[in-house]
Amino acid sequence: MRIVLLGPPGAGKGTQAARLAAHLGVPHIATGDMLRLAANADTPLGRRLHSYMDRGELVPDDLTNSIVEERISQPDAAGGFILDGYPRSVDQAKMLDESLAMQGASLDKAIKFMVTGPEIVKRLSGRLVCPVDGSVYHLVTNPPKVDKLCDIDGTPLVQREDDSEETVLRRLEVYGQRTKPLYDLYGERGILDEVDAIGSTEEVYERLLRAAASGEKK
Ligand code: AP5
Repeated sequence: MRIVLLGPPGAGKGTQAARLAAHLGVPHIATGDMLRLAANADTPLGRRLHSYMDRGELVPDDLTNSIVEERISQPDAAGGFILDGYPRSVDQAKMLDESLAMQGASLDKAIKFMVTGPEIVKRLSGRLVCPVDGSVYHLVTNPPKVDKLCDIDGTPLVQREDDSEETVLRRLEVYGQRTKPLYDLYGERGILDEVDAIGSTEEVYERLLRAAASGEKK
């Protein structure tokens, strides 16, 4: 299955994508994680990436498209993938279609996470991440076992730099302008499904599983 997860910042895409990918036995490909890793390098490219991400702007397509194109051509993605955070614009969606067409493949499903504005604020203001392994927590809904330390490697958890109030507002604007048009695109193609992303992570996962199953080729 080739699935893309769409939704506003903080909708819970990353939290659910990892689990769905493990269930389907396909890689979880998260452009935000890949770009953050590259941005952490003290190189001209790293600094360039930081400047976009810290402001909540999209990284230019020439950088993102090449990263995704290279990743989905790896052998482990031949049988499918969960794309989280890509495409984020109509141009990126076209690029994805072209890359898949070159492999004789196409997208099976686009799943939109439906969540309200106040819930987004709650989720992002309480999010903590491990700077080493990228695992995601929440102060209230998904706290680490030991206060503010990563369950996996004990590293002190941090707030993501782009989770500041000002940057979140810009990310939401960019989402509205650049990413929302994808709903029409995939809706017209008949591959869009919506998932109510409010509720416990378990409830959302059950809904996601049903939506993903509805896109399976019979
Ligand atoms: P990216 O990392 O993709 O950020 P995003 O899309 O804004 O999404 P988030 O990671 O903020 O949220 P999420 O939906 O994954 O939620 P999560 O599961 O963490 O992108 C960052 C930046 O990279 C972009 O701004 C851009 O600059 C650049 N970039 C990335 N892709 C790009 C592209 N294609 N083109 C150009 N630039 C690109 O959950 C959030 C919180 O809620 C967590 O604390 C979690 O524990 C909690 N939570 C999750 N589910 C629930 C639930 N059901 N109930 C309660 N709490 C929950």
